[in-house]
Amino acid sequence: MDELRETAVLPQLTTKWLGRSYHYFPEIGSTNDALKDAAAVQSPQKLPAGAVFLTDYQHQGRGRLTRRWLAAAGTSLLFSLLFRPDWPPEQAQWLTMLASLAVAQTVEEMTNLTVALKWPNDVMLQQAGEWRKFGGMLLEGVMGDNGRLQRIILGIGLNVNLPPQQLPEVITPATSLLAVTGTAVSRLDLLVNLLQHLETGYERADDGRSPHPAWQKRLITLGQPVKASQTGTTTPIRGTAVATDEWGRLLVRDNQGKLHTIAAGDVTLR
Ligand code: BTN
Repeated sequence: MDELRETAVLPQLTTKWLGRSYHYFPEIGSTNDALKDAAAVQSPQKLPAGAVFLTDYQHQGRGRLTRRWLAAAGTSLLFSLLFRPDWPPEQAQWLTMLASLAVAQTVEEMTNLTVALKWPNDVMLQQAGEWRKFGGMLLEGVMGDNGRLQRIILGIGLNVNLPPQQLPEVITPATSLLAVTGTAVSRLDLLVNLLQHLETGYERADDGRSPHPAWQKRLITLGQPVKASQTGTTTPIRGTAVATDEWGRLLVRDNQGKLHTIAAGDVTLR
C-alpha cells in the first residue's frame, strides 16, 4: 500500500492552493462528514478553501442517494475537498463536472485507457465490452444568507487498486484501475495529478468559463434509452436522454415526445 500521509503528499503537490491544507486520517467514518463538520465550526483561516481530508479507510463511506461507498483499506482514493465559491446555487453542479473531467484527464494521462462519464456523477471505464463504474462524486453544499453558495464539500471515491474479487456488488457494475489494467497504479501520483487538474479547472470556472461542453462530450448517457428516477418522485420516466443543460440537468424525451428536465436522481441505461 502506498503512503498518503502529509509527509508523502505535501512535497509532491504542484498546486497553488488546492490540497495545501492537507489532513490525512488512517481511518474515519466518512471524509465528507468529517470535513462538513469541521468547516461548520472552523474559520476560513484555519480551514481554507482547497482543504483536503483524505483517508485510507472509511467505515461509513457514503455514496449518493443514501447509498454506501465501500472500499477495502488502502486500495482506493477516498477524499473530500472544501470549496468556498461565491456562486449561485445552480452552479454547484459545475464542481461535479470539473472533478469528473479532472479524473478523466488524469487517468487518461497516466494509463492508455479512455474514461467516460455517466450522468450525473459516475466515472466509467470499459471492461469486457461494457462500461463499468470506477469512481463517483458526492457534492454537499451550504448556502449563505445571501442565497449564494457559502461552501461546498466535494467527496471523491476512486477504485484504484481494488482487486477484482473485492469489487462491491452495486447497481452500476463496478471496476477498478487495477481490474482493468492488471497493474497497480500509484495512488500518490494519481492524487497529485488530479489535484492539479482540478485546481486548473476550478480557476477557469471561477473565471466564468463553463466546464459543461467538455463534460457533456464525455457522457455515455446521451442518445441512450434510459429509465430516470427523480429524487422525491416514485414513478420513473422512460425515454431517451437527449442532452444536458448548462447546470448539468438531464433532458429526457419520453415515449409520448414530452421533454422532462431531471435535476437530481439516477438513470439506468436500458
Ligand atoms: C457516488 O458515486 O455515489 C458517490 C461516491 C462518493 C464517495 C466518496 S469517498 C470520499 C467521500 N466520503 C464519503 O463518505 N463519500 C465520498
